[in-house]
Amino acid sequence: MKAGALEIRVRRMNVSDIDRVFMIAWSRTQAPKWTKAAYLSALKKDAMPRRIALVVEDSGEGHAPLVVDWKAPDFVETERSTTAEGEAKSGLVVGFAIASLVPPQAELETIVIAAAEQRHGIGRQLMTAMAEELSAAAVSEALLEVRASNERALGFYRSMGWHEAGMRPRYYAEPEEDAVLMSLALG
Ligand SMILES: CC(C)(COP(=O)(O)OP(=O)(O)OC[C@H]1O[C@@H](n2cnc3c(N)ncnc32)[C@H](O)[C@@H]1OP(=O)(O)O)[C@@H](O)C(=O)NCCC(=O)NCCS
Repeated sequence: MKAGALEIRVRRMNVSDIDRVFMIAWSRTQAPKWTKAAYLSALKKDAMPRRIALVVEDSGEGHAPLVVDWKAPDFVETERSTTAEGEAKSGLVVGFAIASLVPPQAELETIVIAAAEQRHGIGRQLMTAMAEELSAAAVSEALLEVRASNERALGFYRSMGWHEAGMRPRYYAEPEEDAVLMSLALG
Protein backbone atom coordinates (compact mmCIF):
# COMPACT_ATOMS: atom_id res chain seq x y z
CA MET A 1 0.00 0.00 0.00
CA LYS A 2 1.08 3.59 -0.51
CA ALA A 3 1.09 6.40 2.05
CA GLY A 4 1.89 9.67 0.35
CA ALA A 5 4.98 9.01 -1.75
CA LEU A 6 6.06 6.04 0.38
CA GLU A 7 5.47 2.35 -0.17
CA ILE A 8 4.64 0.82 3.18
CA ARG A 9 3.68 -2.54 4.59
CA VAL A 10 2.01 -3.34 7.90
CA ARG A 11 2.81 -6.69 9.52
CA ARG A 12 2.95 -8.38 12.92
CA MET A 13 5.81 -7.35 15.17
CA ASN A 14 8.35 -10.04 15.91
CA VAL A 15 11.22 -10.36 18.36
CA SER A 16 13.81 -9.16 15.84
CA ASP A 17 11.94 -5.83 15.59
CA ILE A 18 12.33 -5.00 19.28
CA ASP A 19 15.63 -3.09 19.12
CA ARG A 20 14.31 -0.86 16.36
CA VAL A 21 10.91 -0.39 18.04
CA PHE A 22 12.64 0.50 21.30
CA MET A 23 14.79 3.09 19.54
CA ILE A 24 11.82 4.67 17.76
CA ALA A 25 9.93 4.94 21.06
CA TRP A 26 12.89 6.52 22.82
CA SER A 27 13.36 9.00 19.97
CA ARG A 28 9.87 10.48 20.44
CA THR A 29 9.16 12.62 23.48
CA GLN A 30 5.46 11.72 23.63
CA ALA A 31 5.83 7.97 23.17
CA PRO A 32 5.41 5.63 26.15
CA LYS A 33 8.83 4.36 27.22
CA TRP A 34 8.60 0.60 27.55
CA THR A 35 11.55 -1.59 28.41
CA LYS A 36 12.69 -4.18 25.87
CA ALA A 37 11.45 -6.84 28.29
CA ALA A 38 7.96 -5.30 28.16
CA TYR A 39 7.92 -5.54 24.35
CA LEU A 40 9.16 -9.10 24.60
CA SER A 41 6.41 -10.12 27.00
CA ALA A 42 3.81 -8.39 24.81
CA LEU A 43 4.88 -10.67 21.95
CA LYS A 44 4.43 -13.86 23.93
CA LYS A 45 1.64 -16.04 22.59
CA ASP A 46 0.29 -16.56 26.10
CA ALA A 47 0.51 -12.86 27.08
CA MET A 48 -2.23 -11.82 29.49
CA PRO A 49 -4.02 -9.78 28.38
CA ARG A 50 -3.59 -10.83 24.78
CA ARG A 51 -1.76 -8.28 22.62
CA ILE A 52 -1.81 -7.34 18.96
CA ALA A 53 1.51 -5.75 18.02
CA LEU A 54 2.02 -4.37 14.53
CA VAL A 55 4.92 -2.67 12.79
CA VAL A 56 4.93 -0.62 9.64
CA GLU A 57 7.83 -0.96 7.23
CA ASP A 58 8.84 1.66 4.74
CA SER A 59 10.00 -0.23 1.67
CA GLY A 60 10.78 2.88 -0.35
CA GLU A 61 14.02 3.50 -2.17
CA GLY A 62 16.99 5.27 -0.59
CA HIS A 63 15.97 4.48 2.94
CA ALA A 64 17.98 6.17 5.63
CA PRO A 65 18.42 5.27 9.27
CA LEU A 66 16.83 6.62 12.37
CA VAL A 67 19.55 8.65 14.03
CA VAL A 68 19.36 8.92 17.78
CA ASP A 69 21.55 11.07 19.96
CA TRP A 70 21.89 8.75 22.93
CA LYS A 71 23.63 11.42 24.95
CA ALA A 72 20.66 13.77 24.94
CA PRO A 73 18.42 13.79 28.02
CA ASP A 74 15.55 12.96 25.70
CA PHE A 75 16.93 11.24 22.60
CA VAL A 76 16.67 13.39 19.52
CA GLU A 77 15.80 11.90 16.18
CA THR A 78 17.46 13.83 13.39
CA GLU A 79 16.66 14.07 9.71
CA ARG A 80 17.33 11.18 7.37
CA SER A 81 21.02 10.55 6.90
CA THR A 82 22.76 8.80 4.04
CA THR A 83 25.89 7.96 5.99
CA ALA A 84 24.97 4.74 7.81
CA GLU A 85 24.92 2.35 4.89
CA GLY A 86 24.02 -0.61 7.09
CA GLU A 87 20.42 0.54 7.31
CA ALA A 88 20.13 2.09 3.87
CA LYS A 89 17.93 -0.63 2.49
CA SER A 90 14.27 -1.42 2.15
CA GLY A 91 12.07 -2.95 4.79
CA LEU A 92 13.02 -0.72 7.69
CA VAL A 93 10.49 -0.41 10.51
CA VAL A 94 9.31 3.20 10.81
CA GLY A 95 6.48 2.81 13.30
CA PHE A 96 4.54 0.45 15.49
CA ALA A 97 1.36 0.03 17.49
CA ILE A 98 0.37 -2.27 20.35
CA ALA A 99 -3.09 -2.98 21.70
CA SER A 100 -4.20 -5.18 24.60
CA LEU A 101 -7.46 -7.07 24.20
CA VAL A 102 -10.16 -8.17 26.55
CA PRO A 103 -13.00 -8.54 24.02
CA PRO A 104 -15.31 -6.80 23.48
CA GLN A 105 -12.90 -4.04 24.60
CA ALA A 106 -9.32 -3.24 23.74
CA GLU A 107 -6.83 -0.60 24.76
CA LEU A 108 -4.49 1.01 22.31
CA GLU A 109 -1.39 1.13 24.48
CA THR A 110 0.99 2.82 22.10
CA ILE A 111 1.30 4.03 18.53
CA VAL A 112 4.45 5.76 17.33
CA ILE A 113 5.78 6.82 13.95
CA ALA A 114 9.43 7.86 13.51
CA ALA A 115 9.62 11.65 13.41
CA ALA A 116 11.20 11.80 9.96
CA GLU A 117 8.25 9.82 8.57
CA GLN A 118 5.37 11.60 10.25
CA ARG A 119 2.51 13.31 8.45
CA HIS A 120 2.87 11.03 5.41
CA GLY A 121 -0.25 9.02 6.20
CA ILE A 122 1.72 6.15 7.76
CA GLY A 123 0.01 6.44 11.14
CA ARG A 124 -3.35 6.36 9.37
CA GLN A 125 -2.45 3.12 7.56
CA LEU A 126 -1.17 1.57 10.77
CA MET A 127 -4.26 2.55 12.76
CA THR A 128 -6.53 1.26 9.99
CA ALA A 129 -4.73 -2.09 10.06
CA MET A 130 -4.97 -2.23 13.85
CA ALA A 131 -8.71 -1.43 13.75
CA GLU A 132 -9.20 -4.29 11.27
CA GLU A 133 -7.26 -6.69 13.50
CA LEU A 134 -9.27 -5.65 16.56
CA SER A 135 -12.58 -6.04 14.73
CA ALA A 136 -11.52 -9.50 13.59
CA ALA A 137 -10.78 -10.34 17.25
CA ALA A 138 -14.37 -9.47 18.30
CA VAL A 139 -13.48 -6.08 19.75
CA SER A 140 -16.32 -3.57 19.43
CA GLU A 141 -14.81 -0.69 21.42
CA ALA A 142 -11.22 0.50 21.65
CA LEU A 143 -10.02 2.92 24.32
CA LEU A 144 -6.86 4.91 24.87
CA GLU A 145 -5.39 7.59 27.10
CA VAL A 146 -3.39 10.48 25.73
CA ARG A 147 -1.70 13.43 27.39
CA ALA A 148 -3.99 16.47 27.29
CA SER A 149 -1.13 18.53 25.82
CA ASN A 150 -0.41 16.08 22.97
CA GLU A 151 -2.21 18.10 20.31
CA ARG A 152 -0.65 16.15 17.46
CA ALA A 153 -1.93 12.83 18.75
CA LEU A 154 -5.33 14.30 19.65
CA GLY A 155 -5.67 15.64 16.10
CA PHE A 156 -4.57 12.29 14.71
CA TYR A 157 -7.02 10.28 16.83
CA ARG A 158 -9.94 12.61 16.05
CA SER A 159 -9.18 12.32 12.35
CA MET A 160 -9.35 8.52 12.74
CA GLY A 161 -12.84 8.62 14.28
CA TRP A 162 -11.91 8.50 17.97
CA HIS A 163 -14.10 10.50 20.35
CA GLU A 164 -13.29 12.03 23.72
CA ALA A 165 -14.95 9.93 26.41
CA GLY A 166 -13.69 11.68 29.55
CA MET A 167 -10.67 12.89 31.49
CA ARG A 168 -8.39 11.13 33.93
CA PRO A 169 -7.02 13.84 36.26
CA ARG A 170 -3.26 13.67 36.96
CA TYR A 171 -3.04 10.32 35.16
CA TYR A 172 0.54 10.93 34.01
CA ALA A 173 3.70 11.63 35.99
CA GLU A 174 6.93 13.34 34.94
CA PRO A 175 5.47 15.74 34.11
CA GLU A 176 2.20 15.39 35.94
CA GLU A 177 -0.67 15.84 33.54
CA ASP A 178 -4.30 14.88 32.90
CA ALA A 179 -5.14 12.20 30.36
CA VAL A 180 -7.87 12.49 27.78
CA LEU A 181 -9.75 9.19 27.53
CA MET A 182 -10.75 8.43 23.96
CA SER A 183 -12.99 5.78 22.49
CA LEU A 184 -13.45 4.25 19.06
CA ALA A 185 -16.44 2.15 18.00
CA LEU A 186 -15.47 -0.77 15.79
CA GLY A 187 -17.75 -2.54 13.39
C1 LIG B 1 0.41 10.71 16.42
C2 LIG B 1 1.20 9.99 15.31
C3 LIG B 1 1.15 8.49 15.56
C4 LIG B 1 0.54 10.31 13.96
O1 LIG B 1 1.21 9.57 12.93
P1 LIG B 1 1.41 10.20 11.46
O2 LIG B 1 1.95 9.14 10.58
O3 LIG B 1 2.21 11.45 11.58
O4 LIG B 1 -0.09 10.58 11.07
P2 LIG B 1 -0.70 10.64 9.58
O5 LIG B 1 0.28 11.30 8.68
O6 LIG B 1 -1.18 9.29 9.20
O7 LIG B 1 -1.91 11.64 9.80
C5 LIG B 1 -3.26 11.23 9.65
C6 LIG B 1 -4.14 12.39 10.04
O8 LIG B 1 -3.99 12.67 11.44
C7 LIG B 1 -4.12 14.09 11.65
N1 LIG B 1 -2.83 14.61 12.13
C8 LIG B 1 -1.61 14.05 12.02
N2 LIG B 1 -0.67 14.82 12.58
C9 LIG B 1 -1.34 15.92 13.05
C10 LIG B 1 -0.92 17.10 13.72
N3 LIG B 1 0.36 17.33 14.01
N4 LIG B 1 -1.86 18.02 14.05
C11 LIG B 1 -3.16 17.81 13.76
N5 LIG B 1 -3.61 16.70 13.09
C12 LIG B 1 -2.71 15.78 12.77
C13 LIG B 1 -4.42 14.70 10.29
O9 LIG B 1 -5.82 14.74 10.11
C14 LIG B 1 -3.79 13.69 9.35
O10 LIG B 1 -4.35 13.70 8.05
P3 LIG B 1 -3.77 14.76 6.96
O11 LIG B 1 -2.27 14.73 7.01
O12 LIG B 1 -4.33 14.23 5.67
O13 LIG B 1 -4.32 16.10 7.37
C15 LIG B 1 2.68 10.48 15.25
O14 LIG B 1 2.69 11.87 15.13
C16 LIG B 1 3.53 10.10 16.45
O15 LIG B 1 4.17 9.05 16.44
N6 LIG B 1 3.59 10.98 17.49
C17 LIG B 1 4.51 10.75 18.63
C18 LIG B 1 4.06 9.62 19.52
C19 LIG B 1 2.68 9.87 20.07
O16 LIG B 1 2.33 10.96 20.53
N7 LIG B 1 1.84 8.79 20.07
C20 LIG B 1 0.53 8.88 20.65
C21 LIG B 1 0.57 8.66 22.11
S1 LIG B 1 1.04 6.97 22.46
